[in-house]
Amino acid sequence: MKKKLSINAIKKSKNEHQLTMITAYDALFASLFEESADMILVGDSLNMSFGGKADTLSATLDQMIYHTNAVCNGAKNTFVICDMPFGSYNSSRQALKNAVRVYQECPADAIKIEGGKDKAPLVKILTDNGIAVCGHIGLLPQSVRGEGGYIVRGKDVQDMEQLIEDAEAIEAAGAFAIVVEGVKAQAAKAIALAVNIPIIGIGAGCDVDGQVLVFSDMLGLFEAFTPKFVKKYMDGAGLVKEAVASYKTEVQSKSFPSSEHTY
Ligand code: KIV
Repeated sequence: MKKKLSINAIKKSKNEHQLTMITAYDALFASLFEESADMILVGDSLNMSFGGKADTLSATLDQMIYHTNAVCNGAKNTFVICDMPFGSYNSSRQALKNAVRVYQECPADAIKIEGGKDKAPLVKILTDNGIAVCGHIGLLPQSVRGEGGYIVRGKDVQDMEQLIEDAEAIEAAGAFAIVVEGVKAQAAKAIALAVNIPIIGIGAGCDVDGQVLVFSDMLGLFEAFTPKFVKKYMDGAGLVKEAVASYKTEVQSKSFPSSEHTY
């Protein structure tokens, strides 16, 4: 049986093997991902792909805890990270209160927080209090309204240096890994070289320590838009539509249910 990765094993994987992270929001898909995923992220991206919202900002802590419980039920042998939603960690005090709530109300192995150097003191308080924290730097989806869009980072030396400082501060604060999103490949490589904890890239090229994708993107289920960094490993939307259309045809012709599916 698959063994859940420990924090130490995740840290040790750096320079040994690439980590595979995928999002999941429910027990069914989590159980399907368990065989291959090193880590499952219950991302607040669920607000967009499953909630149909324009961005992640209206996801709530109650929702994140509900979905994290479902994922943990479906993937008991996989390291599960609960994304802290927008507005749930505006101060160290609030962050600690809400992170403790996550740990008390679901068996999540860790939480994830967006932000760089500015969030390092808050990450330190969490890690000092026994919370495992995954950082998230670069393009920050929770800042989309504040920044007026999704802006790729690391395009010049100055920004690359800023991102390296962010990663170093989050590492020093005790995070066990950092998601680096929407960053030019060269800058992401420099970030990965600058720290001793795994850098998990999304839209950050391949010279990092692992990758994460939103599952509904990589299974081709989400059709609204496709970021450049998404590879669709199957045409999920096409397959689902085809299956439901076949079902409809058979319902209309009364060829379903056949004797095989009838008591
Ligand atoms: O919410 C999410 O799914 C994420 C990934 C994009 C890393 O934060």
